[in-house]
Amino acid sequence: TTKLTLDLSKATVPVSPMLYGLMTEEINYAYDGGLYAELIRNRIFKNNTKQPDGWSLISEGDAKAAIQLIGADPTNVPRNERGHAINEALTTCLRLTVEKPGTRAGIANSGYWGIPVKPGTTYDASFYIKGTGQAPPAQFGNRPPQANSNAAPIVTIADNTAGPITVSLESNDGKTVFASGTIDLIKSPYWKKYSLKLTTKTGFTATKDAHFVISTNRTGLYYFNLVSLFPPTYGNRPNGSRPDLMQMLVDMKPAFLRFPGGNYLEGPYLADHFPWKTTLGPLEQRPGHPGSWGYRATDGLGLLEFLGWCEDAHMEPLLGVYAGYSLNGDHVDPGPLLEPYVQDALEEIEYIIGDAKTTYWGKRRAADGHPAPFKLTYVEVGNEDWFDRSNTYDGRFNQFRAAINKKYPQLKVISTIASKVYPTQKVTSGPPIDMEDEHYYQNSWQMQEDAFKYDNYDRKKGPKIFVGEWATREGSPTTNLISALGDAAFMTGMERNSDVVLMSCFAPLFVNVNPKNDATGEPSGMQWASDLIGYDALNSYGSPSYYVQSMFNNNIGNRVVPVSATNLPMLHIDTATLNKNLSPQQRRGRQQKPERPSLYYVATKDTKTGTIYIKVVNVADHAENVTLDLNGAGTIVSTGTLIELKGDKPEATNTITDPKHIVPITTNLTGIGKSFAHSFSPYSVSVIKIKTT
Ligand code: AHR
Repeated sequence: TTKLTLDLSKATVPVSPMLYGLMTEEINYAYDGGLYAELIRNRIFKNNTKQPDGWSLISEGDAKAAIQLIGADPTNVPRNERGHAINEALTTCLRLTVEKPGTRAGIANSGYWGIPVKPGTTYDASFYIKGTGQAPPAQFGNRPPQANSNAAPIVTIADNTAGPITVSLESNDGKTVFASGTIDLIKSPYWKKYSLKLTTKTGFTATKDAHFVISTNRTGLYYFNLVSLFPPTYGNRPNGSRPDLMQMLVDMKPAFLRFPGGNYLEGPYLADHFPWKTTLGPLEQRPGHPGSWGYRATDGLGLLEFLGWCEDAHMEPLLGVYAGYSLNGDHVDPGPLLEPYVQDALEEIEYIIGDAKTTYWGKRRAADGHPAPFKLTYVEVGNEDWFDRSNTYDGRFNQFRAAINKKYPQLKVISTIASKVYPTQKVTSGPPIDMEDEHYYQNSWQMQEDAFKYDNYDRKKGPKIFVGEWATREGSPTTNLISALGDAAFMTGMERNSDVVLMSCFAPLFVNVNPKNDATGEPSGMQWASDLIGYDALNSYGSPSYYVQSMFNNNIGNRVVPVSATNLPMLHIDTATLNKNLSPQQRRGRQQKPERPSLYYVATKDTKTGTIYIKVVNVADHAENVTLDLNGAGTIVSTGTLIELKGDKPEATNTITDPKHIVPITTNLTGIGKSFAHSFSPYSVSVIKIKTT
C-alpha cells in the first residue's frame, strides 16, 4: 500500500507568511465592469469609436432628438465646441439635442453588459450638465464661434435647460421603472454637478437586464459629462468595490497584492504605461488611459484604491514600477534617458510610504484622505522583461535598484527575469538579486511535473523566488477541475519549498463572463481564458481553482513537515494530452515526462496551536488508499477535519448559472491516530486537519 510518513520532529523549515497572495491588472474587465463598483460604462465619453460606447438615445412618442459626442477628436472639433471641456481630464462630452420632446427624450447607459438592479437598494447617481441658456461672452480675442457642420446642433435652441430632469433605473423591456427621481436644473451655460440618490422599490427579483436613463420632456441642448452611478460598496467606501467580489478575495485570506500588472503596468507603447499620477484624486481629474488589453481604463480604481483594496483584504501591497519597457518592444536605454522613469518610481513609492508631513507625495496621500503610510516590503521592477530583445534589463534593473536601495534601504527589489527560467537573459551585474519573479501558464500535466521543481532550488546562493503569475490553463472562461488539480499539485511544491518560494499569486484573477461573441463563442469582454473568478453584472462565482487557493491559504501552519512516500501510484499519459494547451514554444522548451505520480502532498504544522495540515491531491480517476503515519506528533486528537474538493470528471466546473457545482465540503474524520488509513477520492484535493496537544 501507499504510505505517507510525516516526521514532525523535523518540522523546522519556516513557511513563508507571504506565501499566497493576489495578482491583479485591468484585463477581462477586471476593474471597470468588475471589482470597481461604478455601473456606468464610458462615464467620461472617451471610450468610443464612432458611437459613444455604452450610450444610446431615448426618443419616445414623436420626439425629435439626437445625441452627439463633442470633443472626441480634438482636431476635428471647432474651438467653440472644445470650450465644452471641463478640464484637461474631462475633454469629451455627450450632447443631447431635443428639438421636440415627444413623450420623452434622453440618454441611456447599458452598463457593463447590463446595469444590476436589486430591490430596496440605494444607488448614488451624479453627473455634470450644462446648457446653453445664455451664450458665454465672446472671448478668445473676440473671435466668433466657428461653424462646423459635424458639431452643429440640429436646431438652434436658446434658454433651454432650467426645470426638472428625470433620472431612472428601468428594465430593458421598458415595462418597469425600478427607481426614479427628478432634479431641477438651473438655467446656466456653465458646468454644474448634480447628485441624487435612487432607491429601488421592493417586490421584484434582482436583475441585470436594466439600464440607466436621464430624460426630459422639454426641448433644449444638454451637455453631459462624468455620469456616474454607484451601488452600495464593500465597507461603504466612496468610489469603492463591488461587495461580492471583494468578499471572495477577503475569503481567500491573501497576504499581498501584486499590482498594477502584468501587461497593464507596461502599456502597449511607452506612453501608455500605468499612469499612477493621473489615477489620484477626484474622479474629475482622472482622464483614464488606453490600457493594455484593447479597452480604455477609467482609472477609477487608481493607486489609492489599490491600496484601499489592500486594507480591505488585510494585504500588503507589492508594487510593480514601470521600468522603461513596453509591450511593442520599445525601451528606454539605461542612463540619463531612463532617469525620469526612476524618479517617477521613487515618487510612487513615496506616495505609498512617505511621511505625511515631511514628504511631497506623503503629503499628497494625506490630502487624498490617507495620512498613514502603508506597509511596503517589495517593489518589482517592470514585468516579464525577458521579452526585451534589446537586452537592456540588466542596466535598467540596476539603475532602478540602486536608486530604490539608496532612498529606501529597507525595501527588497524584485527582478522580472528569473535566472532559472531565462538563464541567457538574467541580470548579471550588481549585487546578488533579492528575489526573482517566475511565471508559469501551463496545462495540468505540466503543473503536476512542476510540483517538484523547487525541491532542487539552491537554498544557499540562489535568490528567493516570487511566482508572480501562474495558472493551470484548462477551462474557459474560468478554470475547470483538472486545472484545479494541477494548481493544487503545483502548490504542494511551493508550500513544501516555501523557504525558497516566498510568495506566489495566481493570474488572472477576474473575468467578466458577459454575453458570448458569436465568432469566438467566448465572452466578448474576455481577453484571456482560464481565470479564477467569473461574474456578470449581477452574480459571481469561484472556479474550482478559486476554492483550491482558498483551501490552501486558510489551512496552513508555520513550519513545513517533511513527508516521505512509499509505493506512490503512477499515471501514464499519451503525447496528445501531454501537449494539450501548450504553445509551440512551450512544447519545444520542455522535455515532457509521460509518467507522473497520481498523488501530490505537503504537510505543515502550526507550532502555536499544534494543528497539523496535510494536503493531498489525487489526480487519478480512481480512489487511492493511503496509510498516513505521524511520527513524533505527541498526543493526537482522534477526531479531525476533512475539507475535500472533488468532481466526477476532469472537465467538471462551475459556471455563472451553476456556480457551486464544485465546492469544498467539510466533514469530521474519526479514527485519527499515529497511523491511520484514508481513501482519497478520485479527482480530489483534500486537506486533513489534525489537532495535537
Ligand atoms: O496574466 C496575463 C498576462 O500574462 C500578464 O499581463 C502578463 O504579465 C503575462 O504575460
